[in-house]
Amino acid sequence: MNKPETALLALRMRAWISTAGAHIRHHIHDPLQVKTKSSRVDLVTNLDKQTEKSLISAIRSEYPQAQIMGEEGSGDHVTDLSGLVFFVDPIDGTMNFVKQKSNFAVMIGAYENGHPLVGVILNVMRQELYWGGPQLGVFRNETPIDHVSPLALPDGLIGMNAGMFAYDRYHTHQLFKSCSGVRMIGSAGIEYIQLLEGRQIAYMSHLAPWDVAAGRVMAETLGMQLSRLDGHPLDMVTSGDVLIATASTDAAIRTIALAATPS
Ligand code: IPD
Ligand code: CA
Ligand code: CA
Repeated sequence: MNKPETALLALRMRAWISTAGAHIRHHIHDPLQVKTKSSRVDLVTNLDKQTEKSLISAIRSEYPQAQIMGEEGSGDHVTDLSGLVFFVDPIDGTMNFVKQKSNFAVMIGAYENGHPLVGVILNVMRQELYWGGPQLGVFRNETPIDHVSPLALPDGLIGMNAGMFAYDRYHTHQLFKSCSGVRMIGSAGIEYIQLLEGRQIAYMSHLAPWDVAAGRVMAETLGMQLSRLDGHPLDMVTSGDVLIATASTDAAIRTIALAATPS
C-alpha cells in the first residue's frame, strides 16, 4: 500500500475505533452479560461481541478482500498472512472493563503480507487515541510522538503480566530487583501506551496476535524491539510469551529473563 492509501486506511481505522469507543462509553453503566471463556478470569461480555461485529462489518465494507482475525470469533480463521490482514481486539482488558469501568482499550492492527502497516489503540475512558505506522509516524490524537524512554534498566519501570510475576516466570523476581519496579495494568493496550509515552521501558506477557498487533506497529515504528521469550520466532498467528522493550534495555532484560536457572 502506498503512503496516501495507508493514510486513508489510518483515517478509517481511527474513525471506526472512535465510533466503537463512543458506543462503549454510552453503554458503560448498562447491565452486562458476562461469560467466562478458557478460565474463570478470562471474560467476554455482550459489548465485546457487539463491538467486534461492528468493527468487522466496517472493515469488510471498505476492504472486502482482507482477512480479519478477531478475538471473539466473528472474523476469519487466519492461518497465513498474505494480503491485507486486520487484527481486532474489541475490548482489551475485559476484566478491567467489568470490574473498574476503566483501564481498557479497543485495538486494531493492519498488516500487509505480514508487514506492520497501521496500528490504532484507544484508551476508551480517557479518549486518547494512539495511532500510526512506519510510513506515518506515531501520534496521540493529533500530537506526534517521536521518542521513547532513554532510561537504562535500573532506572525504568517494567509492565508485567501478574501471573508471570507471581510464578517468577522468566526470572521476573530478579528483574524486579534490577529495575525501578514492576507494574501490572491488566490490558496489553494500556501497557503499550505506557511504552509509547515513555512511562515504562518494557512489557512482558503471554499474548495472542490481537493483543500484540496494533501496539507492535507503533512500538517498532519508534524503534522498540519485540521478541518471544519462549524460544519461538515472533509471528502473528500464534499466542506466546512476548517481550516488548526499548532498544536500550532489550538486551539487559533478555539476559536476565533467559538466564539458566541454577539447580
Ligand atoms: C488480556 C489483557 C491482559 C493480558 C492477557 C490478555 P483481554 O486481553 O490484555 O492484560 O495479560 O493476556 O488476554 O482478554 O482482556 O482482551
Ligand atoms: Ca479482548
Ligand atoms: Ca486482549
